[in-house]
Amino acid sequence: MIKELGARLMAVAMSVPVCESLVDCGCDHGHVSIFAAKNGLAKKITASDINRGPLDNAEREISAAGFSDVITTKLTDGLCGIARHDCVIIAGMGGETIKGIMEACPWTKDGCVFVLQPMTKTELLREYLFSEGFSVINEKITAEAGHMYCIMTVTYSGKTEYEPFERYISRKGLENELSGEYIDKIIKRLEYETGSKKKAGVLPEKELKKAELDIKSLYEVRKTL
Ligand SMILES: C[S@@+](CC[C@H](N)C(=O)[O-])C[C@H]1O[C@@H](n2cnc3c(N)ncnc32)[C@H](O)[C@@H]1O
Repeated sequence: MIKELGARLMAVAMSVPVCESLVDCGCDHGHVSIFAAKNGLAKKITASDINRGPLDNAEREISAAGFSDVITTKLTDGLCGIARHDCVIIAGMGGETIKGIMEACPWTKDGCVFVLQPMTKTELLREYLFSEGFSVINEKITAEAGHMYCIMTVTYSGKTEYEPFERYISRKGLENELSGEYIDKIIKRLEYETGSKKKAGVLPEKELKKAELDIKSLYEVRKTL
């Protein structure tokens, strides 16, 4: 029997639009796929993972939950060998890995929706998304066990112009109840990182200017909340 999803995975699952086909990339235990099947979020679900162990677990859980007819499992790196689906979840991985998975996939710009939940390097992922013309159409901020997470719903729009603060939180993200607290944490981290590098004399002038601009932009947007 599937356990209730925690706040992070629930926010991920609730970001999935009702669609025909869904990939849960890096499905691990398969709980999100099972939740999606149980709640009719997609008619056809592919639960994939790069590692045999997690996929074996997912297969057991999917079978025990009675959804083997809706959920197909696939052992693969990212979206390799997976045909276009309407929606893709990539959650619980580093921002760099998520970026790599999207870069290697030929159909990311074919009208699909991506639900992305990076654990690290969120700025790097957002920069990649902007440079490639993806827009954040929704963003949830959630907290679980003392950590805050952002869950971005993105799709290709062709737009590539963004305000500095959007490298940390999207305009949609600002609508969340926790957005102020989330921005405060980011400002604190940036100020700490910039201060430490400055003190150590390892912050090039160009990088310092960029960090100062980002912090200023975050303070300005924080005031509006
Ligand atoms: C920390 S778990 C997250 C599981 C689940 N998505 C979540 O958010 O709770 C990361 C999972 O992604 C898988 N993974 C890591 N890199 C991957 C890749 N390039 N392609 C597919 N799966 C990957 C791992 O094997 C692991 O099962």
